[in-house]
Amino acid sequence: MVLYFIGLGLSSPEDISVRGLKAVQKCERVYLEAYTSILMAASKEDLEQLYGREVILADRELVESGSEQILENAQNVDVAFLVVGDPFGATTHTDLIIRARELGIPVETIHNASVMNAVGACGLQLYNFGQTVSLVFFMDNWKPSSFYDRIKENRDIGLHTLVLLDIKVKEQSFENMARGRKIYEPPRYMNIETAASQLLEIEDMRQQSAYTRDTPCVSISRLGSPQQKFVAGTLADMAELESGEPLHSLVILGHRTHEMEVEYLLEFAEDKEAFKVAVNKEVEAARLAQIAAAEEEEDDD
Ligand SMILES: C[S@@+](CC[C@H](N)C(=O)[O-])C[C@H]1O[C@@H](n2cnc3c(N)ncnc32)[C@H](O)[C@@H]1O
Repeated sequence: MVLYFIGLGLSSPEDISVRGLKAVQKCERVYLEAYTSILMAASKEDLEQLYGREVILADRELVESGSEQILENAQNVDVAFLVVGDPFGATTHTDLIIRARELGIPVETIHNASVMNAVGACGLQLYNFGQTVSLVFFMDNWKPSSFYDRIKENRDIGLHTLVLLDIKVKEQSFENMARGRKIYEPPRYMNIETAASQLLEIEDMRQQSAYTRDTPCVSISRLGSPQQKFVAGTLADMAELESGEPLHSLVILGHRTHEMEVEYLLEFAEDKEAFKVAVNKEVEAARLAQIAAAEEEEDDD
Protein backbone atom coordinates (compact mmCIF):
# COMPACT_ATOMS: atom_id res chain seq x y z
CA MET A 1 0.00 0.00 0.00
CA VAL A 2 1.12 3.64 0.24
CA LEU A 3 2.82 5.97 2.74
CA TYR A 4 1.31 9.35 1.93
CA PHE A 5 3.20 12.54 2.74
CA ILE A 6 0.44 15.14 2.80
CA GLY A 7 0.86 18.92 3.12
CA LEU A 8 -1.81 20.63 5.23
CA GLY A 9 -1.16 24.21 4.09
CA LEU A 10 -0.66 27.04 6.50
CA SER A 11 -3.66 27.77 8.65
CA SER A 12 -7.09 26.16 8.73
CA PRO A 13 -8.09 22.45 8.55
CA GLU A 14 -9.79 23.14 5.20
CA ASP A 15 -6.46 24.17 3.64
CA ILE A 16 -5.77 20.49 2.88
CA SER A 17 -6.22 19.72 -0.84
CA VAL A 18 -9.16 17.61 -2.04
CA ARG A 19 -6.69 14.88 -3.11
CA GLY A 20 -5.02 15.08 0.31
CA LEU A 21 -8.33 14.78 2.14
CA LYS A 22 -9.41 11.79 0.05
CA ALA A 23 -6.09 10.07 0.77
CA VAL A 24 -6.33 10.72 4.54
CA GLN A 25 -9.85 9.34 4.63
CA LYS A 26 -8.73 5.99 3.28
CA CYS A 27 -5.71 5.64 5.56
CA GLU A 28 -5.62 3.15 8.40
CA ARG A 29 -3.29 5.32 10.50
CA VAL A 30 -2.83 9.11 10.33
CA TYR A 31 0.21 10.82 11.91
CA LEU A 32 0.56 14.58 12.31
CA GLU A 33 4.16 15.81 12.45
CA ALA A 34 3.92 18.11 15.44
CA TYR A 35 7.32 19.69 16.07
CA THR A 36 8.50 21.74 13.08
CA SER A 37 5.37 23.85 12.62
CA ILE A 38 1.79 24.29 13.86
CA LEU A 39 -1.51 24.63 12.10
CA MET A 40 -2.44 28.02 13.54
CA ALA A 41 -6.21 27.79 13.38
CA ALA A 42 -6.82 24.11 14.15
CA SER A 43 -6.51 21.61 16.96
CA LYS A 44 -5.93 17.87 16.61
CA GLU A 45 -9.65 17.40 17.38
CA ASP A 46 -10.66 19.78 14.55
CA LEU A 47 -8.63 17.68 12.13
CA GLU A 48 -10.09 14.44 13.46
CA GLN A 49 -13.59 15.79 12.96
CA LEU A 50 -12.88 16.83 9.37
CA TYR A 51 -11.10 13.59 8.43
CA GLY A 52 -13.29 11.18 10.38
CA ARG A 53 -10.05 9.54 11.52
CA GLU A 54 -7.99 9.46 14.68
CA VAL A 55 -4.90 11.67 14.38
CA ILE A 56 -1.72 10.53 16.16
CA LEU A 57 0.68 13.33 17.13
CA ALA A 58 4.20 12.49 15.95
CA ASP A 59 6.85 14.30 18.02
CA ARG A 60 10.55 14.48 17.09
CA GLU A 61 11.33 11.34 19.10
CA LEU A 62 8.71 9.28 17.27
CA VAL A 63 9.75 10.50 13.80
CA GLU A 64 13.51 10.32 14.33
CA SER A 65 13.86 7.27 16.57
CA GLY A 66 10.55 5.45 16.35
CA SER A 67 9.94 5.44 12.62
CA GLU A 68 9.32 1.66 12.65
CA GLN A 69 6.09 2.46 14.48
CA ILE A 70 4.98 4.83 11.70
CA LEU A 71 6.01 2.40 8.96
CA GLU A 72 4.63 -0.70 10.69
CA ASN A 73 2.61 -2.82 8.24
CA ALA A 74 2.56 0.04 5.68
CA GLN A 75 3.23 -2.63 3.01
CA ASN A 76 -0.36 -3.76 3.63
CA VAL A 77 -2.28 -0.68 4.77
CA ASP A 78 -2.28 3.00 3.75
CA VAL A 79 -0.61 5.35 6.24
CA ALA A 80 -0.69 9.18 6.17
CA PHE A 81 2.07 11.42 7.47
CA LEU A 82 0.71 14.96 7.67
CA VAL A 83 3.02 17.96 7.58
CA VAL A 84 1.94 21.57 8.17
CA GLY A 85 2.78 23.62 5.08
CA ASP A 86 4.36 21.44 2.41
CA PRO A 87 6.14 18.16 3.23
CA PHE A 88 9.19 19.50 1.40
CA GLY A 89 8.99 23.09 2.70
CA ALA A 90 12.12 23.83 4.77
CA THR A 91 12.25 20.63 6.81
CA THR A 92 12.26 17.45 4.77
CA HIS A 93 11.62 14.09 6.35
CA THR A 94 14.16 12.38 4.14
CA ASP A 95 15.06 9.71 6.71
CA LEU A 96 11.51 8.48 6.88
CA ILE A 97 11.24 8.34 3.09
CA ILE A 98 14.53 6.45 2.77
CA ARG A 99 13.42 3.92 5.40
CA ALA A 100 10.07 3.45 3.65
CA ARG A 101 11.88 2.84 0.34
CA GLU A 102 14.19 0.31 1.99
CA LEU A 103 11.13 -1.57 3.21
CA GLY A 104 9.60 -1.50 -0.28
CA ILE A 105 6.78 0.82 0.81
CA PRO A 106 5.62 3.10 -2.03
CA VAL A 107 5.70 6.79 -1.05
CA GLU A 108 3.40 9.42 -2.53
CA THR A 109 3.53 13.15 -1.80
CA ILE A 110 0.52 15.45 -1.95
CA HIS A 111 1.81 19.02 -1.90
CA ASN A 112 0.42 22.22 -0.42
CA ALA A 113 1.33 25.86 0.22
CA SER A 114 4.47 26.42 2.27
CA VAL A 115 5.96 29.40 4.08
CA MET A 116 8.70 29.04 1.42
CA ASN A 117 6.38 30.23 -1.35
CA ALA A 118 3.53 32.00 0.49
CA VAL A 119 6.11 34.52 1.78
CA GLY A 120 5.75 36.11 -1.69
CA ALA A 121 2.48 37.61 -0.38
CA CYS A 122 4.52 40.38 1.28
CA GLY A 123 5.43 41.69 -2.17
CA LEU A 124 9.00 40.41 -2.47
CA GLN A 125 9.62 38.26 -5.52
CA LEU A 126 10.56 34.65 -4.84
CA TYR A 127 13.17 34.82 -7.62
CA ASN A 128 15.06 37.42 -5.60
CA PHE A 129 15.56 35.23 -2.54
CA GLY A 130 18.83 33.53 -1.67
CA GLN A 131 19.49 30.79 0.89
CA THR A 132 16.89 30.36 3.63
CA VAL A 133 18.29 30.29 7.15
CA SER A 134 17.02 29.18 10.57
CA LEU A 135 17.52 31.03 13.81
CA VAL A 136 17.44 29.10 17.11
CA PHE A 137 16.79 30.49 20.58
CA PHE A 138 20.13 31.58 22.10
CA MET A 139 21.15 30.34 25.50
CA ASP A 140 23.69 32.00 27.82
CA ASN A 141 26.49 29.71 26.64
CA TRP A 142 25.17 28.58 23.24
CA LYS A 143 24.68 31.08 20.44
CA PRO A 144 25.01 29.25 17.12
CA SER A 145 25.54 31.76 14.31
CA SER A 146 26.16 29.86 11.08
CA PHE A 147 23.17 31.75 9.65
CA TYR A 148 25.35 34.90 9.67
CA ASP A 149 27.61 33.69 6.83
CA ARG A 150 24.62 32.57 4.76
CA ILE A 151 22.94 35.98 5.16
CA LYS A 152 26.20 37.70 4.22
CA GLU A 153 26.53 35.54 1.09
CA ASN A 154 22.96 36.41 0.08
CA ARG A 155 23.38 40.10 0.76
CA ASP A 156 26.75 40.33 -1.01
CA ILE A 157 24.94 39.41 -4.23
CA GLY A 158 21.87 41.51 -3.40
CA LEU A 159 19.39 38.75 -2.56
CA HIS A 160 16.72 38.64 0.16
CA THR A 161 16.99 36.16 3.05
CA LEU A 162 14.04 34.30 4.55
CA VAL A 163 14.81 33.72 8.23
CA LEU A 164 12.76 30.91 9.83
CA LEU A 165 12.39 31.18 13.58
CA ASP A 166 12.83 28.52 16.22
CA ILE A 167 9.97 26.50 17.64
CA LYS A 168 10.52 24.56 20.85
CA VAL A 169 7.91 21.95 21.63
CA LYS A 170 8.20 19.09 24.10
CA GLU A 171 11.59 20.33 25.36
CA GLN A 172 12.93 19.26 28.75
CA SER A 173 14.75 21.62 31.10
CA PHE A 174 18.39 20.63 31.77
CA GLU A 175 17.40 19.68 35.29
CA ASN A 176 14.55 17.41 34.22
CA MET A 177 16.71 15.87 31.49
CA ALA A 178 19.56 15.21 33.97
CA ARG A 179 17.16 13.59 36.42
CA GLY A 180 15.50 11.57 33.64
CA ARG A 181 12.12 13.18 34.37
CA LYS A 182 9.76 13.21 31.38
CA ILE A 183 8.46 16.67 32.26
CA TYR A 184 8.23 19.08 29.33
CA GLU A 185 8.41 22.86 29.16
CA PRO A 186 5.49 24.80 27.61
CA PRO A 187 5.93 25.32 23.83
CA ARG A 188 7.92 28.41 22.79
CA TYR A 189 7.78 30.15 19.44
CA MET A 190 10.40 32.77 18.58
CA ASN A 191 8.90 36.17 17.82
CA ILE A 192 10.23 38.91 15.54
CA GLU A 193 11.60 41.02 18.42
CA THR A 194 13.76 38.18 19.74
CA ALA A 195 14.92 37.25 16.24
CA ALA A 196 15.98 40.83 15.43
CA SER A 197 17.77 41.23 18.78
CA GLN A 198 19.67 37.97 18.28
CA LEU A 199 20.64 38.97 14.73
CA LEU A 200 21.98 42.31 16.00
CA GLU A 201 23.86 40.61 18.82
CA ILE A 202 25.71 38.44 16.29
CA GLU A 203 26.47 41.41 14.01
CA ASP A 204 27.96 43.21 17.03
CA MET A 205 30.16 40.18 17.68
CA ARG A 206 31.23 39.41 14.10
CA GLN A 207 31.33 43.00 12.71
CA GLN A 208 31.50 41.99 9.04
CA SER A 209 28.49 44.14 8.11
CA ALA A 210 26.37 41.26 6.86
CA TYR A 211 23.57 43.66 7.84
CA THR A 212 23.17 46.69 10.09
CA ARG A 213 20.53 48.23 12.36
CA ASP A 214 19.36 50.19 9.26
CA THR A 215 18.91 47.18 6.99
CA PRO A 216 15.36 47.03 5.59
CA CYS A 217 13.33 43.99 6.68
CA VAL A 218 9.79 42.66 6.59
CA SER A 219 8.18 40.77 9.44
CA ILE A 220 5.92 37.94 8.33
CA SER A 221 3.38 36.99 11.00
CA ARG A 222 0.70 34.29 10.86
CA LEU A 223 1.08 33.94 7.10
CA GLY A 224 -1.95 32.45 5.37
CA SER A 225 -4.28 32.97 8.35
CA PRO A 226 -6.99 35.63 8.76
CA GLN A 227 -4.57 37.35 11.24
CA GLN A 228 -1.75 37.54 8.70
CA LYS A 229 0.37 40.66 9.21
CA PHE A 230 3.42 42.16 7.51
CA VAL A 231 5.47 45.07 8.85
CA ALA A 232 8.21 46.74 6.78
CA GLY A 233 10.93 48.56 8.69
CA THR A 234 14.59 48.48 9.61
CA LEU A 235 16.14 45.66 11.61
CA ALA A 236 16.27 48.05 14.60
CA ASP A 237 12.48 48.64 14.20
CA MET A 238 11.96 44.87 14.16
CA ALA A 239 13.66 44.57 17.56
CA GLU A 240 11.00 46.93 19.00
CA LEU A 241 7.97 45.33 17.32
CA GLU A 242 5.11 43.63 19.16
CA SER A 243 4.62 40.80 16.74
CA GLY A 244 1.98 38.93 18.73
CA GLU A 245 0.81 35.36 18.35
CA PRO A 246 2.97 32.86 16.38
CA LEU A 247 4.00 31.85 13.77
CA HIS A 248 6.59 34.35 12.57
CA SER A 249 9.34 34.64 9.96
CA LEU A 250 11.57 37.55 9.04
CA VAL A 251 12.85 38.66 5.65
CA ILE A 252 16.10 40.65 5.40
CA LEU A 253 16.10 42.56 2.13
CA GLY A 254 18.94 42.46 -0.39
CA HIS A 255 20.06 45.50 -2.35
CA ARG A 256 18.68 44.19 -5.66
CA THR A 257 15.20 45.15 -4.47
CA HIS A 258 13.04 46.00 -7.48
CA GLU A 259 11.05 49.25 -7.35
CA MET A 260 7.77 47.28 -7.65
CA GLU A 261 8.78 45.31 -4.56
CA VAL A 262 9.41 48.56 -2.67
CA GLU A 263 6.11 50.04 -3.83
CA TYR A 264 4.25 46.95 -2.58
CA LEU A 265 6.13 46.93 0.74
CA LEU A 266 5.38 50.58 1.50
CA GLU A 267 1.82 49.53 2.31
CA PHE A 268 3.26 47.71 5.35
CA ALA A 269 5.70 50.41 6.49
CA GLU A 270 4.73 52.41 9.55
CA ASP A 271 7.12 55.19 8.48
CA LYS A 272 7.04 55.05 4.67
CA GLU A 273 9.59 57.85 4.12
CA ALA A 274 12.09 56.28 6.52
CA PHE A 275 11.66 52.88 4.87
CA LYS A 276 12.26 54.35 1.39
CA VAL A 277 15.40 56.10 2.70
CA ALA A 278 16.66 52.81 4.24
CA VAL A 279 16.16 50.93 0.94
CA ASN A 280 17.75 53.69 -1.18
CA LYS A 281 20.72 53.90 1.16
CA GLU A 282 21.44 50.21 0.62
CA VAL A 283 20.97 50.43 -3.16
CA GLU A 284 23.35 53.42 -3.32
CA ALA A 285 25.94 51.73 -1.07
CA ALA A 286 25.90 48.66 -3.35
CA ARG A 287 26.26 50.86 -6.46
CA LEU A 288 29.27 52.67 -4.98
CA ALA A 289 30.84 49.37 -3.91
CA GLN A 290 30.46 48.07 -7.48
CA ILE A 291 32.12 51.17 -8.93
CA ALA A 292 34.97 50.87 -6.42
CA ALA A 293 35.44 47.17 -7.28
CA ALA A 294 35.47 47.94 -11.04
CA GLU A 295 38.05 50.72 -10.54
CA GLU A 296 40.23 48.42 -8.48
CA GLU A 297 40.08 45.80 -11.25
CA GLU A 298 41.08 48.43 -13.84
CA ASP A 299 44.06 49.49 -11.68
CA ASP A 300 45.18 45.85 -11.46
CA ASP A 301 45.13 45.46 -15.29
C1 LIG B 1 10.78 24.38 9.92
S1 LIG B 1 9.68 25.41 9.08
C2 LIG B 1 8.47 24.27 8.48
C3 LIG B 1 7.86 24.77 7.21
C4 LIG B 1 6.59 24.06 6.77
N1 LIG B 1 6.79 22.66 6.53
C5 LIG B 1 6.11 24.74 5.51
O1 LIG B 1 6.21 24.14 4.43
O2 LIG B 1 5.62 25.89 5.61
C6 LIG B 1 8.84 26.19 10.40
C7 LIG B 1 9.13 27.66 10.46
O3 LIG B 1 8.63 28.32 9.32
C8 LIG B 1 8.05 29.56 9.65
N2 LIG B 1 6.61 29.50 9.36
C9 LIG B 1 5.89 28.39 9.07
N3 LIG B 1 4.62 28.72 8.85
C10 LIG B 1 4.53 30.07 9.03
C11 LIG B 1 3.47 31.01 8.94
N4 LIG B 1 2.25 30.61 8.64
N5 LIG B 1 3.73 32.33 9.18
C12 LIG B 1 4.99 32.74 9.46
N6 LIG B 1 6.04 31.89 9.54
C13 LIG B 1 5.80 30.58 9.33
C14 LIG B 1 8.28 29.80 11.14
O4 LIG B 1 9.46 30.54 11.30
C15 LIG B 1 8.43 28.36 11.63
O5 LIG B 1 9.19 28.30 12.79
